[in-house]
Amino acid sequence: MKTLEIKLAYRIILVLVAILAILSIIRGLIIEVEIKELYNQVSELRRHIMVVRMAVPSLRNLAEKCGIYIGVAVERSLLDISDYAYTVKQEFNILTTENALKFGLVHPELDVYSFDDADHIVSFAESNGMKVRGHTLVWHQQLPTWITQGRYTREELMNILREHIMTVVGRYRGRIYAWDVVNEAINDDGTLRDTIWLRTIGPEYIELAFRWAHEADPQALLFYNDYGAEGLNTKSNAVYNLVKSLIEKGVPIHGVGLQMHISLENPPNPQEVAANIRRLNELGLEVHITEMDVRIRMPARWDDLIRQAEIYREIIKVCLSAKNCKAFVMWGFTDRYSWIPSHFSGYGAALIFDESYRPKPAYYYIAAAFIEHLTKDNKD
Ligand code: XIL
Repeated sequence: MKTLEIKLAYRIILVLVAILAILSIIRGLIIEVEIKELYNQVSELRRHIMVVRMAVPSLRNLAEKCGIYIGVAVERSLLDISDYAYTVKQEFNILTTENALKFGLVHPELDVYSFDDADHIVSFAESNGMKVRGHTLVWHQQLPTWITQGRYTREELMNILREHIMTVVGRYRGRIYAWDVVNEAINDDGTLRDTIWLRTIGPEYIELAFRWAHEADPQALLFYNDYGAEGLNTKSNAVYNLVKSLIEKGVPIHGVGLQMHISLENPPNPQEVAANIRRLNELGLEVHITEMDVRIRMPARWDDLIRQAEIYREIIKVCLSAKNCKAFVMWGFTDRYSWIPSHFSGYGAALIFDESYRPKPAYYYIAAAFIEHLTKDNKD
């Protein structure tokens, strides 16, 4: 009797287990179907977003109509990431080599040049109809140790610099649109920065660099590039005086780069930037905004992003209304890859796309400024 009961209990348990197993299989199948459906919906949505994005003109499209270049600094390794490369091609028509052409990277040993990264960036730009800004020939940072620890005489260092400039500029002759020949040579108080170039060669290193760059590529536009000299201040006065004296000496210089690394808390005054660009125009010089980013103290709130968008808009408007402002370049485009968090502790979110390549308010404010400029021009 007892064994019969046990057998029956076993059977019931078996049946229950079987039912549970069947139910969970059915449930699994339903979930699978639901996931597939959700996946289809997401893909459909992504397709719609793509279609809408394609219908809105890209920044490069708008910039071309306005007669200026819009671009970003790029790293060679990031061009292998498809979202990154896609956005670069879609949105911009000028690229700056963020690090690839800096002295220490391109010329790591006395007899060694390493052009792979820069070659790749230049070819990428060419095959996508973009210009290139070469950055940078003479700077006090990112120098190789064979330079910083070399103990060269004036003659030796002059020969080294000449050979460097002739080789690097010469390699890209006719292919690099503009060079930042000398970068950050002036202090905030307007004096020349104490660098290995100034100490060893003397202040003439600046004009020599321009002359050699011109010799290596007579077509390239040659720029002096600096930060903190955007508005009207001691430093921008010193930049103005330096480039004026170079022009008076017949040195081949064609423009000034305003880096525009700024923070939400103290952006330069747009009227002052306009006045600064105007006085450079009177010298016959072009201006490029060369490295713009607007860093925000993290975490960034929505109203910070709107304020940031307004600052980007102010600067693009100043550039659009100045005849000699020909390029607007940002120091990257996605917050996923920006130098800000590692160089300014507590800051981030400085660029116009978020970390997932979604346009931020600044993107739309820049686009709107272009459209406003175009419609205003049509009215005139
Ligand atoms: C920065 C790069 O973005 C970083 O990747 C690198 O570690 C340091 O240099 N002014 C310039 C640029 O002229 O070359 C600098 O680029 C940013 C400040």
